[in-house]
Amino acid sequence: MKPGLLVGMLAALFAIGCAETPKEPPEPAAPQGESFTSGNYTAALPLGLQAAAAYVPENNPMSAARIDLGRKLYFDPRLSKDGTVSCATCHDPDKGFSDARPTSMGIGRQTGSRNAPTVMNRLFSQEQFWDGRAADLEAQALGPIQNPIEMGHTLQDMVSNLKNLSGYAPVFQAAFGSPDITPDRVAQAIATYERTVLAGNSPFDRYQAGEKTALGESAVRGMALFNDAQRANCVTCHAGFNFTDESYHNLGVGMDRPNPDWGRFGVSKNEFDKGAFKTPTLRNVSQSAPYMHDGSEATLLNVVDFYDRGGLQNQWLSKEIKPLRLTAREKTDLVAFLEALTGEVRGTGKPTLP
Ligand code: HEC
Ligand code: HEC
Repeated sequence: MKPGLLVGMLAALFAIGCAETPKEPPEPAAPQGESFTSGNYTAALPLGLQAAAAYVPENNPMSAARIDLGRKLYFDPRLSKDGTVSCATCHDPDKGFSDARPTSMGIGRQTGSRNAPTVMNRLFSQEQFWDGRAADLEAQALGPIQNPIEMGHTLQDMVSNLKNLSGYAPVFQAAFGSPDITPDRVAQAIATYERTVLAGNSPFDRYQAGEKTALGESAVRGMALFNDAQRANCVTCHAGFNFTDESYHNLGVGMDRPNPDWGRFGVSKNEFDKGAFKTPTLRNVSQSAPYMHDGSEATLLNVVDFYDRGGLQNQWLSKEIKPLRLTAREKTDLVAFLEALTGEVRGTGKPTLP
């Protein structure tokens, strides 16, 4: 290096040093969620959700018009045979997108055998239902409409009902480029709306983003237990930012009944899937009691007690489920952590029906 150049550089550094006046440190910017795009639709996800994990089928890109139509259909009881039950009856935004009942009640007050899971954060999972029998949200959506004890309709009659409501044709036109009403379009629009129902930006997410006061001491201890494979071991199955491995496990829930629900086995016919159910997300779980596929646990503390006992012994019980021997304080800490996963919910707005 030439000596002249060195002198010049030192002089420049000196000049920078002198020009510097003491400034207040800038306010740290509030942490932002990731940006998510599908079709011509773009949204900032709530903090903590990962855009790269989103699943949208290629033939159903999102758009504002499709979301708008899907929201109307989701909240419209006229999709059911007797006009009394909509998707929102059992997946109610005011009840954590569930129904606060152990098992759901459909038309004519008929009850099913499974608990209504939340519709939140479906953007991040492909297979739907406790047993994963629907390949995606599009495949799922027509199920309850035809289920005799849920909405009890036929697709044909459901479509002709919608055709008789003249307000729907323009909304289908906007969403799909022509006014035709078909079961597939109904399913695609509902699935698109569901993909906007998102929960994130919880105290846990803000803590992860550096806001160390966002979690209390009990929740911080609960988080350590949750993540410790030698202790509560929850993270093995409730993995990743959406707290699920999207896989199926037997915890023994309901296995003491005379005719247990075989869960995933009904779909896969694999012996090891007997009594296995899909790991649910734990985001906003404090809003959707009661818990488990049969609604058998009333509170989060009951769920923690169930894990503490080592689930319910049966020949297909997951190897990951063992008695935990948690202290009373550790149980409260785990519950405090589960409660800290409750955050902002997007997509709750109710539509005006045509
Ligand atoms: C009568 C109550 C009821 C109605 C009405 C209903 N559902 Fe459900 N929903 C349930 C129950 C119960 C399950 C779980 C069933 C199972 O896993 O076998 C479920 C499962 C789901 C799932 C799967 C979620 C997951 O985590 O796997 C989605 C998505 C869903 N419903 C969306 C809808 C949509 C869309 C509609 C309207 C077209 C609807 N539901 C109508 C009760 C209902
Ligand atoms: C072997 C995998 C596995 C492990 C380990 C595990 N879970 Fe689960 N979790 C599941 C499955 C599967 C279900 C649904 C089971 C059913 O309904 O049959 C579930 C259900 C839940 C529910 C109910 C959610 C709802 O919406 O109904 C909560 C809460 C929960 N787990 C919390 C925990 C906590 C806390 C731990 C650690 C103590 C834990 N889980 C460990 C797989 C697991």
